[in-house]
Amino acid sequence: MTVLVTGGAGFIGSNFVLDWLAQSDETVINLDKLTYAGNLQNLAALAGNPRHVFVRGDIGDVNLVAQLLAEHRPRAVVNLAAESHVDRSIHGPGEFIETNIVGTFHLLEAVRAYWGGMPEPQHSGFRLLHVSTDEVYGSLSADEPAFTENHRYEPNSPYSASKAASDHLVRAYHHTYGLPVLTTNCSNNYGPYHFPEKLIPLMIVNALAGKPLPVYGDGRQVRDWLYVKDHCSAIRRVLEAGRVGESYNVGGWNEKPNIDIVHAVCALLDELRPHVDGISYREQISFVTDRPGHDRRYAIDARKIERELGWKPAETFGSGIRKTVQWYLENREWVNAVQSGGYRDWVAKQYGA
Ligand code: NAD
Ligand code: TYD
Repeated sequence: MTVLVTGGAGFIGSNFVLDWLAQSDETVINLDKLTYAGNLQNLAALAGNPRHVFVRGDIGDVNLVAQLLAEHRPRAVVNLAAESHVDRSIHGPGEFIETNIVGTFHLLEAVRAYWGGMPEPQHSGFRLLHVSTDEVYGSLSADEPAFTENHRYEPNSPYSASKAASDHLVRAYHHTYGLPVLTTNCSNNYGPYHFPEKLIPLMIVNALAGKPLPVYGDGRQVRDWLYVKDHCSAIRRVLEAGRVGESYNVGGWNEKPNIDIVHAVCALLDELRPHVDGISYREQISFVTDRPGHDRRYAIDARKIERELGWKPAETFGSGIRKTVQWYLENREWVNAVQSGGYRDWVAKQYGA
């Protein structure tokens, strides 16, 4: 049996592929365009593994996707390919429209044609799982209940609007054509192989380099945080037992203001890699201009996936963030390699000199 994973060289995708191959005997076809966020070093442990077939390509390339589907006959497609960084979507939304909306549309078309021609029982067993985000629901005030699957879509950034559009297309392909889809809407992930443009890895990497830790606005914006391996287990569980056409919210029951996240990272670094002069990494915190249109609060009500599918996160925030900081301390070569010229250009554009 085979699954096609898109975006499997990115942060969540590479964790997903590594976990999948460790826990099943199926083959993974990994289709990834290798944008700045895709990194084959994340998959170095799979070198020579015949159950991992990497293909560099675009989900929007219908002919390539059709060819891969015809050749490998996967029983499922897991779509993780996307442009994923809100700040980049503010500077340049075009790529987000291209990949997240147009690319998903082309992927859906190729998958629909493939699924339509599948014989039974493969036809009935086929699934397309689309990985999405809690950001499609928009922003909550401090006292509003957490997002359920029935919360209306109110995306506020070009990133979340493009993800919302892709979710709607996936929904429509089920409703109109009967395509057997599943959608997951997950909160903020953290863990190994996280590109250091996002909050947690940026703070770890900057702290260790003696650089400022840029906190947007007042730092009181709230996110729910989930260790990436728990997101991967949720995707596997939804693929295995989710009801076709349904969405499942995935979260860690870990709502925290950004400043608390930064303090937690600093406290772990003070413990694990203290400055020789004894000064806390907290001294490097620098409050900077807020993100335009910055959503104030996201919170996930993950009771549906727990009730229907028995999924719960294995890590607490305390255990997950400790593993994450340790991983970055032990993988300085990975960090150095991703801090390429392109990375430095981004940091200069976003944070100035
Ligand atoms: P990422 O940016 O680290 O990785 C995205 C991957 O997709 C990269 O390997 C990139 O090369 C690839 N890619 C981009 N455009 C492509 C295209 N047109 N064709 C093929 N491959 C392409 O992102 P991530 O954080 O791993 O997120 C993966 C998915 O999970 C995304 O859909 C994202 O919206 C969603 N998600 C992320 C989070 C999070 O906290 N990171 C939370 C919830 C949902
Ligand atoms: P991020 O990791 O970009 O994820 P998202 O915007 O998708 O939630 O940001 C997480 C939170 O951290 C968000 O509220 C923005 C904030 N943030 C900072 O305060 N400083 C930074 O340098 C970055 C990248 C993010």
